[in-house]
Amino acid sequence: MGLVSLFLGLVSLFSSLTVGSGIGANWGTQATHPLNPNIVVRLLRENGIQKVKLFDADYDTLRALGKSGIEVMVGIPNDMLAPLAAKMKNAEEWVSKNVSKHITTGFRYVAVGNEPFLQTYNGTFLSTTLPALQNIQSALIKAGLSNQVKVTVPMNADVYESANSLPSGGDFRQDIHDYMIPIVKLLSEYGSPFTVNIYPFISLYIDSNFPAEYAFFDGNASPVNDGGTYYYNMLDANLDTLVHTLQKNGFGNMPIIIGEIGWPTDGDRNANVEYARRFNQGFMSRIAGALL
Ligand SMILES: *[C@@H]1O[C@H](CO)[C@@H](O)[C@H](O)[C@H]1NC(C)=O
Ligand SMILES: *[C@@H]1O[C@H](CO)[C@@H](O)[C@H](O)[C@H]1NC(C)=O
Repeated sequence: MGLVSLFLGLVSLFSSLTVGSGIGANWGTQATHPLNPNIVVRLLRENGIQKVKLFDADYDTLRALGKSGIEVMVGIPNDMLAPLAAKMKNAEEWVSKNVSKHITTGFRYVAVGNEPFLQTYNGTFLSTTLPALQNIQSALIKAGLSNQVKVTVPMNADVYESANSLPSGGDFRQDIHDYMIPIVKLLSEYGSPFTVNIYPFISLYIDSNFPAEYAFFDGNASPVNDGGTYYYNMLDANLDTLVHTLQKNGFGNMPIIIGEIGWPTDGDRNANVEYARRFNQGFMSRIAGALL
C-alpha cells in the first residue's frame, strides 16, 4: 500500500456536502520499501496533511507522530477482533500498550477492525466486532481516555444498499442489518463517528455499464433525480445513501468520516494517472468547496 494514496476526510452532510473538517491520509505499512516513520511524518507535515489513519498501532509510527500535532486514528486489525471480544483484559492491555503509552493531543480515534463486514469475508467477523468494540470502549473509559479518544469501525460502503437505487432508499444490507444496529447505537451513545470507505473506482471496475463520468466531479454525468434532489456524482449519492440509512434507523445526527477514498494509477483499464489525477483533484475541490 502506497503512502498518501488515499484520503481521509471528515464530513457531515445531508444532500450535499455542507460541513467538514479537513483532509488526511491513510498510512499503511505493508509496503515493499517502507520509509522511516520520521521521514513520513515530515512529508505529511510539509504537505499540510493534518490527519492520519493507520491500520495498526505500530510503535515507531506512533512515536514519530508523537508531538507532530497530526490527528491520529490507530487501527486494530481484524484478526485481533476475536481475542479482544473474548476477554476484557485483552482490551485493557491493548489500550494500555497502544493508546495510553502514546497519548498526545493528536490521538483521537481507535478504528476497531477494518471493513469487518465486507461481503468477501463471509461473515467471519460478524459476531466478534461488536463485543470487541464494547471492550475497547470500556477499556478507554477505564483508562480515563474516553473523552479524547473515540472508537469507530471503518466499514466498506457495501454495508448499505438501496432497494430503489436512489439515496433515499438507503438501508443497511439485509443480512447484516441486525449486526449494524447495535454497533451504530454504541457509536451514537459515545459520540463516535461512522467511518465509511467509498471507492467510485470499484463501481466502475465491477460494472462496465457504470457511467464513467458519474465517478468524477466535473458535472458531466446526467444527474440522478431523487425526488427533486439531483446527484451529479457517485460520491454524493453514496454518502447520502448512508445519511438516509442512518436517519431511517434513528441515527440522523451521526458525524461521518470518509475513511478511505482514492483512485489507483495502475492495474486496470481505468486505473491510470490521468483518471487518478482527475478523481483526486476533483475530490479535493469538492471537499474544499464544502469546507468554505
Ligand atoms: C498492541 O497491544 C497488544 C497487547 O494487547 C500487542 O500484542 C500488540 O502487538 C500491540 N501493537 C500493535 C501494533 O497492535
Ligand atoms: C468465502 O466463501 C467463498 C465461497 O464459499 C470462498 O471461495 C472464499 O474463500 C471464502 N472467503 C473467506 C475469506 O473465507
